[in-house]
Amino acid sequence: MNLLSKIFSNTRKPEGFFGRIMVNGMNGGSHARMAQWGLSFVNIAQGANILDIGCGGGANIARLLTLVPKGRVEGIDHSPLSVKKSSQVNAAAISAGRCRIQEGSAAALPYADGAFDLVTAFETVYFWPGIEECFRGVHRVLREGGQFLIVNEDDGLSGANDKWEKLIDGMHTYTPDELRALLAAAGFGNISVRRQQQHHWLCVSATK
Ligand SMILES: C[S@@+](CC[C@H](N)C(=O)[O-])C[C@H]1O[C@@H](n2cnc3c(N)ncnc32)[C@H](O)[C@@H]1O
Repeated sequence: MNLLSKIFSNTRKPEGFFGRIMVNGMNGGSHARMAQWGLSFVNIAQGANILDIGCGGGANIARLLTLVPKGRVEGIDHSPLSVKKSSQVNAAAISAGRCRIQEGSAAALPYADGAFDLVTAFETVYFWPGIEECFRGVHRVLREGGQFLIVNEDDGLSGANDKWEKLIDGMHTYTPDELRALLAAAGFGNISVRRQQQHHWLCVSATK
């Protein structure tokens, strides 16, 4: 594995020195602007229960907590480093009982059926092995009428995806059509695709 590959593989699972840098980087810049853009497409009730999968540095959990002053936000990530950083960033809400962050995989969500009103996945579905099974799991933990929101920095149509897929082992940059088909196969309906043409951002929302 060359150095660039080693550095950028930390987007898939932050670990060690480069992982710490990556986790801090996830909490700023373009990720923040893109997350705000994606969140503008869902209506979130003040008392909603939300799960953020692949929560990284925890900035989106903090953002979601401000949107649900009477609700709760859970986070899950398979990287212990991400869990640690997210927990630091959201320490006050964790102490107040409004937030819980745990280590785990998108493929085996440790939550009850129908537990959430909204599940979010920012910049992470590219890395989920067995994505069909993962999406079925998201469907299971949503209540009837609950929403799944996917926000990706690359819509798979930018031409940049090849470069990233070569650098990061196991990465796949889904196109809108691929995500539509996967979501429909997992049982979702009302699938909406929004693209931000300038940056090739992609936001897909779907309803259980
Ligand atoms: C590029 S970061 C994005 C972090 C954050 N969502 C954001 O937008 O800033 C991807 C995160 O997804 C996590 N991740 C990737 N695959 C995962 C999986 N299968 N299950 C749980 N977490 C996963 C990684 O560990 C990493 O923290």
